[in-house]
Amino acid sequence: MKNPPQEIISQLNALREQIAYHNERYYVYDAPDLPDAEYDKLFAQLQSLEQQYPQLITPSSPTQRVGGAPLTAFSSVQHRVPMLSLANAFSPQEVEAFDRGICKKLATEQVSYAAEPKLDGLAISLLYQKGELQQAATRGDGVMGEDVTLNVRTIKSIPLALRGTGYPQTLEVRGEVFMPKAGFVALNQQQLARGEKPFANPRNAAAGSLRQLDASVAASRPLAFYCYGVGYVEEGALATSHTEILNQLQRWGVPVSPEVAVVEGVDGCLAYHQDILQRRDQLRYEIDGVVYKVNELALQKALGFVARAPRWAIAHKFPAQEEMTELLAIDVQVGRTGALTPVARLAPVQVGGVVVTNATLHNEEEIQRKDLRVGDKVIVRRAGDVIPEVVAPVMSYRKDELPRYVMKKSCPVCHSEAVKEHGMAVWRCSGGLFCDAQRKESIKHFVARRAMDIEGLGGKLVEQLVDEQLIKDASDLYKLTEDQLVSLERMGEKSAKNTLKGIEKSKSTQFSKFLFALGIPSVGEESAKILADYFKTLPALMAAKLSDYIVKKGVKGVGPKSAQKIADFLNDEKNREVYDLESPATWRQIKISGVSQSTLAAVAERFQKQGLPDKVNPSDLENKNSVMIPGVGELTAKSIIAFFNQPHNREVIDKLLAAGIHWPAIEDKTAEARPLDGQVVVLTGTLSQMSRDEAKRRLQALGAKVTSSVSKKTSFVVAGSDPGSKVEKALSLGVEVKDEQMLMALLP
Ligand code: IVH
Repeated sequence: MKNPPQEIISQLNALREQIAYHNERYYVYDAPDLPDAEYDKLFAQLQSLEQQYPQLITPSSPTQRVGGAPLTAFSSVQHRVPMLSLANAFSPQEVEAFDRGICKKLATEQVSYAAEPKLDGLAISLLYQKGELQQAATRGDGVMGEDVTLNVRTIKSIPLALRGTGYPQTLEVRGEVFMPKAGFVALNQQQLARGEKPFANPRNAAAGSLRQLDASVAASRPLAFYCYGVGYVEEGALATSHTEILNQLQRWGVPVSPEVAVVEGVDGCLAYHQDILQRRDQLRYEIDGVVYKVNELALQKALGFVARAPRWAIAHKFPAQEEMTELLAIDVQVGRTGALTPVARLAPVQVGGVVVTNATLHNEEEIQRKDLRVGDKVIVRRAGDVIPEVVAPVMSYRKDELPRYVMKKSCPVCHSEAVKEHGMAVWRCSGGLFCDAQRKESIKHFVARRAMDIEGLGGKLVEQLVDEQLIKDASDLYKLTEDQLVSLERMGEKSAKNTLKGIEKSKSTQFSKFLFALGIPSVGEESAKILADYFKTLPALMAAKLSDYIVKKGVKGVGPKSAQKIADFLNDEKNREVYDLESPATWRQIKISGVSQSTLAAVAERFQKQGLPDKVNPSDLENKNSVMIPGVGELTAKSIIAFFNQPHNREVIDKLLAAGIHWPAIEDKTAEARPLDGQVVVLTGTLSQMSRDEAKRRLQALGAKVTSSVSKKTSFVVAGSDPGSKVEKALSLGVEVKDEQMLMALLP
């Protein structure tokens, strides 16, 4: 073994310090100031030095986070100072009572509190001896915990060695190990991809990760740590207030939440609670409340403990985002387009401040994945504005064998067969117009505010009207009479009049709103606006073909790679000399590696029709779909075409228009700005820089009308190579002929 020279030792120490610093920037502050690749280089340098001088490897070197064989069990650790818990407060009144008790006991008017987020993870004790992390233990029952040192060492934000000087020789740091929300989502996606069960929440995921016997599994889990106090301290003294101690720890490299604050009196506490509660959803980790701690250690000492909790601290909890309740039933709802959505009926429960009784279960697969069974106790979660979700069954409460959930494969309303498209998760009712549920939903959609905006006509009334068979589709709304409305239950003369007024008023609408109201699958509010702007009139939209939405460019079967190969071949002077590329027979002899003969035959055909340009552009050969209307892709286009192909839909539209629905004509916003307005242009021959379709589109965008035959009305003809008879005709009529270069000059 080589004897290490002093400079190597200094180099090693410098590298370890740098790496620890960058670790902290990255894992604690989320603010790296070094590119990842540079960090990797530092790490590799350290690894290679340690390889050369293995005697210099220390347990606290950053290379030593993961190591050793998996454990068979965790050993027990006795805490030198018991790990206590906190009393809880659920209302401002309880916090006020807590504060009154403290002020009374201390015979003072007001105290300063340290206020901190209450992290939703698990408590950990970290024992540093002479500044080196020696042992990490879970809280356990507060007296005995489990030794999870190997797993905790893999948590990158926990320093393996304290930084700087002045720390006590024995220092027990206490805090919470947790999993940030983003890491939790990513981990669950991974779990699912591997066919494993997802974790119910970040706390379970953190706990499960720390209890892995194989530290390399823990190392792959996105865990983090914030310190909130100290335990056993020997040979050295700490500051005299809680927040000053946290500052000291932070200086020694221990992560502390940036949200920790000193607040004055109970008012300060409650304002802090409010502030953090409001920002709860924006924090990168889950918290279930805040903790107030009397800040001065001397005062803490005077207050002492009750049972297993300090008198000087309290957790002020937020409304729970997760509760347990019973899954009473799973009903199936039918959507506007027939989608069958299972919905959980729950025993009413308060979650995050509101009562939850229903929650969507999305689809059958989702229910089976979560293994939810009617009769289960389930965890219901509602975070912020998010809709309530059934997270998981509580397996320990499933005593009897409950049957697995299987969705009935028929519509619960019209009993038509349910069908499922290949590869899709959603079952659909095949009843279409015969299904009352689909009728109701599509009419509800039609009358909605963002659609036809019919005042005085809500969802309940639509249901009544369909049930009473007064309407079958949206157009029937415009035939309703006051008598019919009044005959309905709970409908007075006045509301009937109002409803009719609302219906009448809705006749004057906008094209995009009408379009959205039709409920064409996959046409939302936004795409309805785009379509209205693009097609401007309903007949134009109804007549549109797939080729008006999607233009297939290039030659069938040619991908980007073969396009390049073919173009290279054709642009090679030598090949042009050797082969007679105008003759199909010649093409049969050509071989280009990776390009099939049938593809070459298709290319040959193309150039026979259009002639071979001087330079072949690979992008003209590549077979791709080009979307003509940004925001309207092939799926939407097909859905629109299918919708208008349905005779029934056309009938309803005719009836709606006959009832008097109208909208202002859509003006050409670009009309004034377009330089080719009123001009009639004919394209002929092959263009080298773009296809004729593209040229057509670009000319139209400038206001030109592009036609196929030359007449006196033609403003000018654009001639590419091998133009043919149109140029002669133009010349004979005295119509101007422009070449490709002149065309390019016109285009923006
Ligand atoms: S102080 C003697 N501060 O809450 C005081 N605990 O209910 C002991 N927790 O086991 C704890 N965030 O796991 C404290 N800022 C915080 C906390 C916190 C989360 C957890 C901790 C503890 C439990 C007590």
